Amino acid sequence: MSFPFNTDYPTIESLRERARKRMPGFAFDYLDGGCNENINIRRNTEEIREIQLVPRYLENYKQSNLGTEIFGIKYSAPFGIAPVGLQGLMWPNAPEILAKAAHKHNIPFILSTVTTTSIERASELTEGKAWFQLYNPAEDWLREDIIKRAGAAGCPVLVILCDVPTFGYRPKEIRNGLAMPPILNIRNIFQVMGKPRWALQTLYHGTPNFATLKPYMKGNMSIKQLGKFMNETFSGRLNAERIKPIRDQWKGKLVLKGVASEEDAEEAIRLGFDGIIVSNHGGRQLDAGESSVRPLQRIVKYKDKITVMMDSGIRSGPDIARVMGSGADFCFMGRSFMYGVGALGSKGGDHTISMLKMQLQQVMEQVCCEQISDLPKHMLRAKNQI
Ligand SMILES: Cc1cc2nc3c(=O)[nH]c(=O)nc-3n(C[C@H](O)[C@H](O)[C@H](O)COP(=O)(O)O)c2cc1C
Repeated sequence: MSFPFNTDYPTIESLRERARKRMPGFAFDYLDGGCNENINIRRNTEEIREIQLVPRYLENYKQSNLGTEIFGIKYSAPFGIAPVGLQGLMWPNAPEILAKAAHKHNIPFILSTVTTTSIERASELTEGKAWFQLYNPAEDWLREDIIKRAGAAGCPVLVILCDVPTFGYRPKEIRNGLAMPPILNIRNIFQVMGKPRWALQTLYHGTPNFATLKPYMKGNMSIKQLGKFMNETFSGRLNAERIKPIRDQWKGKLVLKGVASEEDAEEAIRLGFDGIIVSNHGGRQLDAGESSVRPLQRIVKYKDKITVMMDSGIRSGPDIARVMGSGADFCFMGRSFMYGVGALGSKGGDHTISMLKMQLQQVMEQVCCEQISDLPKHMLRAKNQI
């Protein structure tokens, strides 16, 4: 049997362990942590894994196909790369590595407003297929300008966030004093000295910066100045009034990310969104909240009105099958892909996608499921499911 990836790292957990060894501590903490006591980040994966699938060995079976269509676009797998900020700080060139890998495998890559490559570069690397996640700018001119740039770059889907109405209370980030570009205090310098590959790659690719926002920023900013800039520039709390001008201006598909209740899903339908991503931001915002798969199971009933996607906690092919079995139209992962890049650098994106595809294919073959959309037929209606 041949495997299309480095068999030393056959799981996301093995990639995570290697990433932990290769990334400076402050960068790994930023990627790996949840918020407060880290309860919800654990709950996300644990509750996905309570879902069980039923195999049907004696059914007629030809072959499984991972292909999935959303918004009229055919993708080769039912999963994509979620938007993650500061990627180039965690591993040099990370967003470019992931955008290229997503393009090669024909899966969606979502570019964050606050990552280290620009809308224009992501579009170039994906031939106009990258989606763009917009933090909602406080000022009209800035919002209009960024949306115009996303349109000109050919982005098919604009994603806006509703789950960052305030900052996430993340103790390790508070202690590490994370800054952009990175500020090297004594502790950080020691961490970087112990990670020669990260340091060399950073020297080679240059200090990371907020490439999309650069035209609107003044020079280098400390975490404090950056916080002020973000607070002044973006208004995290969304409402109907703030969404309307975005919906009016954006002619492509519009997605609301961070939905965690039926009420917000219904409001998204009323406001004219084409899709929602049920998400709790990977457990980085509300430690006291539900895991993401729970509201997903209640929200899939709106699927005839809106495309329902999910992220948070997915770490394997079986996890993808469990989420798709719960009725999602599509799903995304954030950390899994970044662990891949942290572990394997430029090969990390390709490795992680190939591995997840193979794991998912194996589950499909095992349960005798030919199409992703048939996975819900294999769900065991367990006690804990709604
Ligand atoms: C380090 C990190 C940074 C993130 N930055 C953003 C961001 O800039 N914009 C955004 O919409 N979501 C952001 N997210 C949330 C992800 O898009 C996604 O919802 C989350 O990672 C999914 O959970 P998972 O990591 O368990 O797959 C971030 C997540 C992480 C881990």
